[in-house]
Amino acid sequence: MSKSDIPESEKDDNPTTNQSWGGRFNEPVDAFVARFTASVLFDQRLAQQDIQGSIAHAKMLEQAGVLSSSELAAICDGLQQIAAEIAGGSFDWSVALEDVHMNIEAALTDRIGVVGKKLHTGRSRNDQVATDIRLWLRDQIDSIQPLLTKLQQGIIELAASEAETIMPGFTHLQTAQPVTFGHHLLAWNEMLERDFGRLLDCRKRLNQSPLGAAALAGTTYPINREFTAAQLNFDKPTENSLDSVSDRDFAIEFCAFASMLMTHMSRMSEELVLWTSAQFQFIDLPDRFCTGSSIMPQKKNPDVPELVRGKTGRVNGHLIALLTLMKSQPLAYNKDNQEDKEPLFDAVDTVADCLRAFGDMIPAIRANSESMFEAARRGFSTATDLADYLVGKGIPFRDSHEIVGKSVAYGVDQGKDLSEMSLAELQQFSDQIEEDVFEILSLEGSVAARNHIGGTAPQQVRAAAQRALALLKTRN
Ligand code: ARG
Repeated sequence: MSKSDIPESEKDDNPTTNQSWGGRFNEPVDAFVARFTASVLFDQRLAQQDIQGSIAHAKMLEQAGVLSSSELAAICDGLQQIAAEIAGGSFDWSVALEDVHMNIEAALTDRIGVVGKKLHTGRSRNDQVATDIRLWLRDQIDSIQPLLTKLQQGIIELAASEAETIMPGFTHLQTAQPVTFGHHLLAWNEMLERDFGRLLDCRKRLNQSPLGAAALAGTTYPINREFTAAQLNFDKPTENSLDSVSDRDFAIEFCAFASMLMTHMSRMSEELVLWTSAQFQFIDLPDRFCTGSSIMPQKKNPDVPELVRGKTGRVNGHLIALLTLMKSQPLAYNKDNQEDKEPLFDAVDTVADCLRAFGDMIPAIRANSESMFEAARRGFSTATDLADYLVGKGIPFRDSHEIVGKSVAYGVDQGKDLSEMSLAELQQFSDQIEEDVFEILSLEGSVAARNHIGGTAPQQVRAAAQRALALLKTRN
C-alpha cells in the first residue's frame, strides 16, 4: 500500500506511528527506535532542494496525466508556502515524521488536503533523497568555486608583487637553494589550481538526475525522466535505477576533493606558522588573524593557519567515513546511506570556512624581505651554483661537487658563507675559480640564472603570475 492509498480515517496521530508507511504495522515503532532512525534533525538542510525536486516531479506528473492542472497548482502553491516558512525559520519539524521528505509531505497534506498525498506517485524517498543530495551538493560546489578562486587570486597577486623577494628554498627543511617568495607562492597556486579542477570534475559527474528510479527498479507510471532532469538543470537522467538510488560516490568524490584541498591548505598553514615564528620572522600576519595568550603577554599566535591545519583531520575523517559507509553495500538502497549526510555537510562547511579565512588572510600577509634574504645567505644556498660554475670550467660534476663540499666545510669552520670568502680562499679548493665567481655566488645571480618556464627567476615568476591570473579570468 502506498502512502497515497492510505484513507484519511487511518491517519494515526500517535507520534511513533509513521503515517507514511504505517499500514502494515501492528504496533507503533519503539520511541527510541523512532529517534534512532530519524534524520530530520540534520537532513532538514536539504529542504529547499527537496521542494525543488518535488515541484519538478509534480509538473512531470501533470504532463503524464497523473495530476490535473488544478492539483498541480495546489501542490506547487502549498510547497512554495512551505519553502517560505522553512526559510523564515517558522516551520515546525517533527522527529516523529522521520526525515525532511516526510515532514514536508505531511505539511503539504495538512495544508492542501488529500491532493498532497498524490505527490509521491511514481516516486520513492530513495530517488528523492538521491536527487536532493545531488542538488544540494551542486549548489554548495557553486558557492565554493568563487571562494577558491578568490584565494588563488590573492596568492597570485601577492606572488607578482613578491617576484624579486629572495628567500631560502628548502628540501628536508634544510636550506637548499635560494628561491623567490613569489615562486614559492605560485607553487601553492598550482596545488589549488588542480584542486579546482577536481571540484569541477566532481560537479560534472554528479549532475545527473536519479529522479524516476523510484525505490530501485523504476516505476509503472508513464514518467518523463528527461523532463524532470531538464527542470532541475541536470545534464541528463541517470542510466540505471539500481545504481541511481544506491551509490554515493559523488559525495565521496567531493570529500576526496575536500581532503586534498585541506591537505594543501595544511601545508600552507604549516609554512605560515613557521614563517611567523621568532626563529624565521619571514612574514607578519595582521593582528586580526591572530590571538594572544592569557598568560604570556608577548604572544601573538597564528591561530587561523593552525586551525585550518587541524581541521584537515576532520575532513580526512569524513572521507574515510563515507568510503567505509559505502564499502560492501549490496545493491540497491540501504538505510546505511542516511549516514552520508553529516560527514558531507561538515566537509562542505569546513572547506568553505577555511577558504573564507585564507582568502581574507593571504592578501594581508606582509613579507619581511630582509629576514628572508638573510636566511638565504646563511646555509650555503648557492653551493649548487658554484658546482655548476666549475662544470662550466670543464670539471666533471662529481668532482666539482667534491670541491664545493670542501669549500662548504671550510665555510662552516670559518663561519663564512661562500660569497663572503676571498678569491684566494676559494682558490684553495680549485684554481679554476676566478673573479667572475662572485656574481654567481650572489643570491640575485642564483635566482636570475634559473630563467626558464617553471624556474624561480623573477622574470619567470612575473610571467607565470600573469598566466595564472589569465587562467582565473577564464572561469565564469
Ligand atoms: N532519510 C532517508 C535517507 O536519508 C531517506 C530515504 C529513506 N528510504 C527508505 N527506504 N527508508 O537515506
